Amino acid sequence: MTAVPEETADATFFTLDAVTADLMEVDARFRACLNWDYGKRDGRVWNLYEKNKLNQWNATTDIDWDHEVDFGAELSEENGARLASFVVGEGSPVPRELLTAFRWEYQAWMCSQFLHGEQGALVTTARLVETVPDMEAKTYAASQVADEARHVEAFARYVDEKLGTVYPINPGLQRLLHDLLSESRWDIVYLGMQVVVEGLAITGLRLASSGFGDPVIRQITRMVASDEARHIAFGVTALTGMYNEVTAAELKDREDFLLESIRLMSRRFMLREVWERMELDVEAGLRFARTNPMMATYRQMLFQQVIHVLRQLGMLSEKVKRLLLDENLVRPEIMAATR
Ligand SMILES: [Fe+2]
Ligand SMILES: [Fe+2]
Repeated sequence: MTAVPEETADATFFTLDAVTADLMEVDARFRACLNWDYGKRDGRVWNLYEKNKLNQWNATTDIDWDHEVDFGAELSEENGARLASFVVGEGSPVPRELLTAFRWEYQAWMCSQFLHGEQGALVTTARLVETVPDMEAKTYAASQVADEARHVEAFARYVDEKLGTVYPINPGLQRLLHDLLSESRWDIVYLGMQVVVEGLAITGLRLASSGFGDPVIRQITRMVASDEARHIAFGVTALTGMYNEVTAAELKDREDFLLESIRLMSRRFMLREVWERMELDVEAGLRFARTNPMMATYRQMLFQQVIHVLRQLGMLSEKVKRLLLDENLVRPEIMAATR
């Protein structure tokens, strides 16, 4: 990474060498546009922009960073017993004596993926500022970019200062971000980021907020999730009605993109990186993540929001539904109820 100015050299934000040592570069061809029509200021997107301005927070001062997190600390008897009932047992690669270590590695993996996803949101939404034609959407997207920068700041500081360990980006997430940054069609960037990535993130953040033990991560995930709710609303507002007016070929491109991104995101939650780092049986770990009822329920909860938005947008096609069912990302009775 490039040299850090002396006065900020000790800022935790700049010390994540494992993440910043390698750049991910994406070549892209896209059409940037300026719009000289500044007149319309009463739309739903503008209202979301007003809300964004009112809800800005400061990661330095609004989060209580004084609380110490003892990474690796033994779980309480009650929490240990509860987690063991899900994670230890037949088919699991996690022996009882490694349960606490697994719990912390899982938290580090999740928070690392939040961090990398936030940077993905930062950069892809910056692309939207350039490429979307509406002035309201450019303005909103710019305010989202500021939100995402703050999210990166908060997670980077938490991972570095409180956990002291970081995982690299999950390959499925990396692939999706690569696809989005090489994409020239702005509505597909919305579909990938505001609908799929942020749709998964908001539930993940809410579950992390209630599930992770320390007050710092609870506070961060709660505050980030409240911003993400507006970002998702922005995507829904921008895309509503759009797919009624496109050609069959254009619709098929969007469907193909969704199918690929659902496949990538489904595989993201198999915890391969955790099994590898803990030197557990990786194949057994992948099998466990795929078939364990708690893990399956977790993925189904994550995808609920995505399914809800795809239905609103008219993009829950038969093929998309089939894939979601085949990948066990939704229970058949829930899918039936969303027709
Ligand atoms: Fe974010
Ligand atoms: Fe976001």
